[in-house]
Amino acid sequence: MRMVDLIEKKRNGLVHSKEEIDFIINGYSNDSIPDYQISAWAMAVFFKDMTQEESAYLTDAMVQSGDTIDLSAIEGIKVDKHSTGGVGDTTTLVLAPLVASVGVPVAKMSGRGLGHTGGTIDKLEAIPGFSVEITNEKFIELVNKNKAAVIGQTQNLTPADKKLYGLRDVTATVNSIPLIASSIMSKKIASGADAIVLDVKTGSGAFMKELSESKVLAEAMVKIGNNLGRQTSAVISDMSQPLGYMIGNALEVKEAVDTLKGKGPKDLTDLCLTLGSHMVVLAKKAKTLTEAKKLLQEAISSGKALQQFKLFVESQNGDSSVIDNPEKLTAAKYKVDILAEKNGYVAEIVADQIGVAAMLLGAGRATKTSEIDLSVGIELRKKIADQVNVGEPIATIYANQEDIEASKQKIISSYKISTTKVDAPKLIYDVIS
Ligand code: URA
Ligand code: CA
Repeated sequence: MRMVDLIEKKRNGLVHSKEEIDFIINGYSNDSIPDYQISAWAMAVFFKDMTQEESAYLTDAMVQSGDTIDLSAIEGIKVDKHSTGGVGDTTTLVLAPLVASVGVPVAKMSGRGLGHTGGTIDKLEAIPGFSVEITNEKFIELVNKNKAAVIGQTQNLTPADKKLYGLRDVTATVNSIPLIASSIMSKKIASGADAIVLDVKTGSGAFMKELSESKVLAEAMVKIGNNLGRQTSAVISDMSQPLGYMIGNALEVKEAVDTLKGKGPKDLTDLCLTLGSHMVVLAKKAKTLTEAKKLLQEAISSGKALQQFKLFVESQNGDSSVIDNPEKLTAAKYKVDILAEKNGYVAEIVADQIGVAAMLLGAGRATKTSEIDLSVGIELRKKIADQVNVGEPIATIYANQEDIEASKQKIISSYKISTTKVDAPKLIYDVIS
């Protein structure tokens, strides 16, 4: 096989065989195929697309390019959740203890990564003492004993995806549905999930800003999962404004605790119940989504879910007293309200701009080596459809720096105030399974 022929084949809109996809990914992994040929091929894929079968082969080839995690020593069906990423998305912190409390094993492997706020691991590290530096053996033992554990990503998972994603980033080929879908699914499959629940975001803070695109991506991922023997469901949820009220690491821990106590923001609570119900059904702990949701609601109202969070924190050396005393979490020096300059109704909160405002305060990493400040962030005081009057706080900044002007201006310009009433956006747009 010659790579030049395969580039031409895709350029002409033809379909690759499994052998051809394996040849491309193996060759790229072992450096026998250079970057420039893979770049040309990725551009051909961008324009000519891939079939479901090709996408599944590509996913599988990337899974095989590195280590895969064997979770078979954990009893039960391991369901992983993945979000395509949004602003202030606190769902993992809520969902892990919530579904674990009804018997679904949660074996979560998480990274730090870049973004508006830290990843799940950074957020958990806002809890004093909490450590994800545990051995694989300890990780498996904890999931079997307590149903939930989180470990940092140490293994060499899907190196071909890492390499290809890096190349796509600088060749304008990130935004291709089969390439995104196989990239995301390869990481989930390599981390050992038996079943997968995808939270595909749509709106201004999402990777896919248009609902139609989000649907196509969700369908592509569900098909890859099913093709590779992993039951997969996708929920398409709103990211036209940040989820919940808090954006920041320690702030989101507090919001997650409130949600587990049954006192969380409505959108975050509802999304967690929806995603959680799909996880419970895929793990065969309930027959229907309705039954699953009831189990989860009971776990919240009885305090079982909160108890599970305490157990999870303690078993990874965290100080669980912050759960009853959130004021013990690291806090920022300054707290500044941003006031409304107009009367009316909130019509829009440009989610990714709020994310940038949080990053400017230090809540997220701009580059791999940036330091993250776990205590800072933003609290939204008003969300879409809320009425506001001049002088009322629309948001609060939690900062450790005196100069918050850039962040403040981003927040002000993110809020669009309308003089007429506005409807709150829908939270769940669609479910694909
Ligand atoms: N996230 C990923 O992991 N891969 C992509 O290709 C796009 C977003
Ligand atoms: Ca939030």
